[in-house]
Amino acid sequence: MIALHVAAGCGGTGRELAPYADLTALAGFVTRTLTLDPRRGGRLRIAESRGGLVRAHQLQNPGVDRFLTAELPWLAQQGVATWASVAGSSPADIAAVVRRLATAPGLSGIELNLAVDDAASQRLHDGSTPRGAAEAVRAVLDILPDNLALHVKLGADVRRLPAVARAVAEVGCDALVIGGALPAALDNGTPAELSGPAVLPVALRAVRTVRAELPEFPLVGVGGVATAADVRAFGAAGAGAVQVGSALLHDPSALARITSELEEQS
Ligand SMILES: Cc1cc2nc3c(=O)[nH]c(=O)nc-3n(C[C@H](O)[C@H](O)[C@H](O)COP(=O)(O)O)c2cc1C
Repeated sequence: MIALHVAAGCGGTGRELAPYADLTALAGFVTRTLTLDPRRGGRLRIAESRGGLVRAHQLQNPGVDRFLTAELPWLAQQGVATWASVAGSSPADIAAVVRRLATAPGLSGIELNLAVDDAASQRLHDGSTPRGAAEAVRAVLDILPDNLALHVKLGADVRRLPAVARAVAEVGCDALVIGGALPAALDNGTPAELSGPAVLPVALRAVRTVRAELPEFPLVGVGGVATAADVRAFGAAGAGAVQVGSALLHDPSALARITSELEEQS
């Protein structure tokens, strides 16, 4: 059966989701993206649209140090396979975040978030080019301890994906996370991302594109998953694992439902 993960940022700190889902049964629980310093979000952050959620993507997070003291210990105590999503303003800044996480007990891996669409305006390193992505991955690998795995999230832009995915695969990581949210805007013009049902076909195309470029490389698909059929569609496109995101905000018990649908139909 295809392994299920909670997508970055969609399971809160874990505590909010735990009453509705057995987090210990997941292949991975990905945190919201962590930066060295805390980041505050804007006042208007999220809205519903007919196709899914539109969310300002200011990478609101408490900062890596606060995550280590206030969130990771609980996840570790529950036995959740926790993946810390990380970003930073430069390869060195990303490495500084990872260095803080490297010795923390209870972490399974790092998900390097290179899927931010307008990195410069977010004060983030631009990982959308083969060179930029490779530099960031190299900086992480230089300090990553052997006990932590590395996933690299690359987004859904099929014009850039083949070259960027190849560059990252050549530097090395355990899997590429393909798909995710698409550039959008809130009604007041705030730059945002669209996620949910509308992005599923886009993410499937992205996974197929990378699968064609890298026939053997492990891929994790993300975008619009709400049913077992969606999970199987990602499997058919070439993903060995799938992340569930916005569906959890609509229905926090979606993971349990999808898992039992998959078991019934297998
Ligand atoms: C509320 C919310 C918060 C998110 N936070 C992050 C984040 O911190 N880092 C990240 O890489 N992606 C983040 N995402 C994007 C998701 O991880 C996922 O890639 C995207 O929503 C597409 O999957 P979905 O259609 O299943 O939601 C967030 C999405 C939502 C809805």
